[in-house]
Amino acid sequence: MTKANLSLNGTDYEFDVIVGSEGEVGVDFSSLRKTAKAISYDPAFGSTGACSSAITFINGEKGILRYRGYAIEDLAENSTFEEVMFLLVKGELPNAAQLKAFKSQLAEHAEIPDALVEQYKALPKTLHPMAALSSIMVSLSGYYPTTGDEDQDIIRLLAKMKAFVALGYRQSKGQDFVQSKNGENYIADFVEMMFGKTSPALEQAFDQLLILHADHEQNCSASTVRMVGSSQANLYASIASGVNALWGPRHGGANQKVIEMLEMIQNDGGDASKYLSKAQDKSDEFRLMGFGHRVYKNFDPRAKIIKIAADEVLDDLGLDNDETLDIAKALEKAALEEEYFKARNLYPNVDFYSGIIYRALGIPTDMFTVMFALGRLPGWIAQWKEWNAEPKSRIHRPRQIYTGPTERKVNPISER
Ligand code: CMC
Repeated sequence: MTKANLSLNGTDYEFDVIVGSEGEVGVDFSSLRKTAKAISYDPAFGSTGACSSAITFINGEKGILRYRGYAIEDLAENSTFEEVMFLLVKGELPNAAQLKAFKSQLAEHAEIPDALVEQYKALPKTLHPMAALSSIMVSLSGYYPTTGDEDQDIIRLLAKMKAFVALGYRQSKGQDFVQSKNGENYIADFVEMMFGKTSPALEQAFDQLLILHADHEQNCSASTVRMVGSSQANLYASIASGVNALWGPRHGGANQKVIEMLEMIQNDGGDASKYLSKAQDKSDEFRLMGFGHRVYKNFDPRAKIIKIAADEVLDDLGLDNDETLDIAKALEKAALEEEYFKARNLYPNVDFYSGIIYRALGIPTDMFTVMFALGRLPGWIAQWKEWNAEPKSRIHRPRQIYTGPTERKVNPISER
């Protein structure tokens, strides 16, 4: 094994170098505090690996995304979301018998308790659907206390999640919730629970979107799931925390913000140049939503697939003259010609075009991120399960560099 050397205050320290199966190099600084009485300082963790993982591989420079070795393009073309769930959670693609058994397990657990439906209905109508989803998710621990049978808890959560999404959707439309009727066909069942009917075009669009969102290694929400899970909070609590982390506009919440931005541009006459200037103005908080990524510095492979899918879905639905899609394309083209975006490697990410598809499929804007969560669930579960199986797993507990006042005395209040 190669070693890395660090010289600090005149003393030399040696650290192990670890290399991943795709050649990624990490310096193992886990003993740094003990040996050198120093910590590695990396706010926002841009150069920090919090774990080793066999789930998802990303090469941001080359635009590669693979789940357990399979390229995202291959999975999107040649597998189903059910197979991808199985792959992420269990490690391999299922054979025919395994898939059949998995489908019947999903069907067995697909219904949700009536009391949970009533609980959802009692939530304030003004509550964002992501907040509702996280509160329902964490409540599951009351309905199904974790038994120690991890596989059972995981199947239950995978099976019921689509009911929570359908519940939120139907509630937002003032429609009654319908329990699962066709649980062995996950996507068809989901589409029927949402819209009361299904079609091959709808099923294909949802299947592909969910596959593309299924995992993305140590992003903000997956790291949150691992962080909360490291305290040995139960599966439901850990995943509910992932939902909350995903909600933010710099993460999964961007898909909602993209559509709001495109509609704002449309209502402002359709001219994107004003917004391109705003995005480059450092005194303006406005960012081009759906642009940029911490890891992808060339292109986001999910965005490439989704851009094509957006055209196909709108075409299938007879909406091929969608003004929002035209504005999105014009905005992308103009941004990619600007020096500001080129110099910073800012390209459209997965959220740039996904919202256009969700909107065309009839999903309300504030439910877009819930759709992302439905897709991301197997990834969060896989990350949680991998951490749980780690024999030397310890609670996550970062350090800090303290910059506040040094010790001082409490003066009597009359002297402050
Ligand atoms: N519009 C304008 N400028 C931007 C943008 C943007 N969307 N994104 C980054 N920049 C600039 C940023 O101001 C900075 O400029 P400078 O170097 O002059 O200070 C530079 O590019 C680097 O940005 P950063 O904030 O240091 O990058 P980051 O890796 O911390 O943030 C990001 C990544 C995705 C949060 C950010 O690009 C962003 O806020 N994008 C918009 C929100 C968005 O679309 N989020 C969805 C991400 S994909 C879905 C998911 O996986 O969560």
